Amino acid sequence: MRVLGIETSCDETGVAVYDSDRGLLGHRLHSQIDLHAVYGGVVPELASRDHVRKTLPLVSSLLQDIGISKRELDGVAYTSGPGLVGALLVGAAIGRTLAWAWGVPAVGVHHMEGHLLAPMLEADRPSFPFVALLVSGGHTQLVEVKGVGSYRMLGESLDDAAGEAFDKTAKMMGLPYPGGPELARLAQDGDPARFTFPRPMTDRPGLDFSFSGLKTFALNTLQRETNGETESVDDQTRADIARAFEEAVVDTLVIKCRRAVRECGADTLVLAGGVSANRQLQQKMAAAMKREGARVFYPRNEFCTDNGAMIAYAGWQRLRAGQHEPLAFGAMPRWPMDSLAAL
Ligand code: KG4
Ligand code: ZN
Repeated sequence: MRVLGIETSCDETGVAVYDSDRGLLGHRLHSQIDLHAVYGGVVPELASRDHVRKTLPLVSSLLQDIGISKRELDGVAYTSGPGLVGALLVGAAIGRTLAWAWGVPAVGVHHMEGHLLAPMLEADRPSFPFVALLVSGGHTQLVEVKGVGSYRMLGESLDDAAGEAFDKTAKMMGLPYPGGPELARLAQDGDPARFTFPRPMTDRPGLDFSFSGLKTFALNTLQRETNGETESVDDQTRADIARAFEEAVVDTLVIKCRRAVRECGADTLVLAGGVSANRQLQQKMAAAMKREGARVFYPRNEFCTDNGAMIAYAGWQRLRAGQHEPLAFGAMPRWPMDSLAAL
């Protein structure tokens, strides 16, 4: 079975074709970074309009490059939510219409389920059951995963998501959008011993997170070090603050994952979502899980962040189980992942 996947939930247009016999046949990504950079963040209306312009040409060029005709596709999957409503509606309208025109079934995919299953696109892939840490710009969730669609929420962020905290802190430090990877790059030159940030909510039981205080802590540190003249900050101090912030987020995530793996008696941890591209997180998590007798899996770098491949794969899982949409389409900007049907 061959499935076209379309991802348009936020600021990247992603398309891909997944073949159940041959694996991923190809994928394309168009990033809107240049479009939103001047505004310092995503402008939803501009995102929707750009998805309108880019999605169909990306699909055409992908099919041409991989040498697959539209008649050789058996289904279309598109992101139905969560995400920006306008952006989601563009992908849903295009995906549903193509499926109708080609006479194949369509399925709406949950964006976070896409992230969660992305490590399955790799040759060395995790097997069920496992614990997953989903860390993106909109979500920070710890999930016990028994199979596709069988998700038990163990904990989540009570305020900012991990990626959101990275982005807001980066912006406050004068870094360009998208801030997360920029802050991580700056942190490489930082001294981890100069500042110590708190590890929020690790001193009490439970698996929830809170990251909004860390950005305030970073701001206070910056103001203290510069006597309130934050623009005058020197490069080393900026890097040291970035490093302390990154260490605090990573340590907090590692502490909660260790707790979750112990509670579930799991021997496998999956990291997914944009922040899972963070090298410090990957390395520290792998070391900590090794001590727990567990293995860590995460997608290749380009599939940590938003992409069409994860949507094609998750869509294939649901289509092959017989799930598909009626002719109507819609978007679900808010959509709890644990409401999905187990396959
Ligand atoms: O999954 P994703 O591409 O989009 C959402 O579903 O939100 O995640 C994007 C988030 C952004 O907040 C971005 O700053 C963060 O992932 N991110 C990173 C890194 N790469 C992306 N955060 C920290 N370190 C990175 N290397
Ligand atoms: Zn995402």
